[in-house]
Amino acid sequence: MDVATPKAPVPPAPRQFRRSAAGAATERSPAGGEGPPAASPTARADDRPPADPHRWARDRWRTRARDPGWLLLPQRLFLGVTFTKAGVDKLVDPAFFDPAQPTSIAAQIDTFRATSPIGPLLSVAATYPTATGLLMALGEIAVGIATLLGVRVRAAAVGGALISLTLLLTVTWQTRPYYLGSDIVFLFCWLPLIAYGSGGVLSLQRFAEQRWPARRDDRWPSRRALLAQFGTAAGVIALTALGARLFRRSAPAGGEALASVADVPVGGVEPVVTSTGVPLFLVRVADQQFVAFDRTCTHAGCRVDLAPGGKTFRCPCHQGQYDARTGNVLAGPPPRPLHQVPVHVSGTQVRVSGNQTPSNQGGGNQEPGNQELPDD
Ligand code: FES
Repeated sequence: MDVATPKAPVPPAPRQFRRSAAGAATERSPAGGEGPPAASPTARADDRPPADPHRWARDRWRTRARDPGWLLLPQRLFLGVTFTKAGVDKLVDPAFFDPAQPTSIAAQIDTFRATSPIGPLLSVAATYPTATGLLMALGEIAVGIATLLGVRVRAAAVGGALISLTLLLTVTWQTRPYYLGSDIVFLFCWLPLIAYGSGGVLSLQRFAEQRWPARRDDRWPSRRALLAQFGTAAGVIALTALGARLFRRSAPAGGEALASVADVPVGGVEPVVTSTGVPLFLVRVADQQFVAFDRTCTHAGCRVDLAPGGKTFRCPCHQGQYDARTGNVLAGPPPRPLHQVPVHVSGTQVRVSGNQTPSNQGGGNQEPGNQELPDD
């Protein structure tokens, strides 16, 4: 009697699992790449025939709720839309590339380089303001679109983090308290996307990889290479900031001459720039009495302008208003008065008093409004 020899069961091919950013085990992509593989648990749930549609839908959403790619999706879309819009806004704003306008990239670089810890880098950028503005706008658009479409999201996130770090060290460096500045929040929002990418969720790159598979070696950049690039760029910026702090320019000895007394009529306001590049407003409040204010807004560091009528300073960024005689805040979000630079009359010249550095690196903590100034 023939006894059929039972066939040994063929064990299923072992699946490789890895631990996701959220701690859940997900299947490793056979071809590598960003996030979970083509055959992720989410995809298996999606592909299963819905014998019980309610249970199928519930399982699918439960699976998605544990998938970092889906958890990061709102953050990814927000960052993508915001960076794309920020870049487009710059390109379509005629004032952004017009150096005569206070909101232009040239004026902003000029203002921020006096207070930013990466002032030396900004001095280089100040030589090519239009190219710098274009680079910034196109960089934001490239980062935003790649993030939205799910293409090279980890690389885009590195770019977004570097842009946010640059803006943090310039535009919102003076913002107090620090959490009122948006750039520090953007910087930390990019970090999970650097680590995880799109996770293959709503990703054009995932679609293309499934459609046209590529060898693992063809994929670039690797996570390690991305982290190395981000670390190198962040290190360069940090070293520049440290060097700028160590070799900060000293104040002019003996009091720098800002203007001739005769150049400013009584009650008049004259824009001047110090030898270290700090833009000031020089106000002649009486025949022999002058005050000078740093033009850097104490809210987020934009450059204030003289409003029509000559009685107030106006910030073009968020409509902050200051009294042109005292520097006190009249309206808007600025938390402090404009920083006052002490000046005195010496002969025919108005000079900076003592060895005060004419910048608001001290955070504008003087209270010019406490000084008695004569009325008109
Ligand atoms: S920067 Fe916001 S009001 Fe000036």
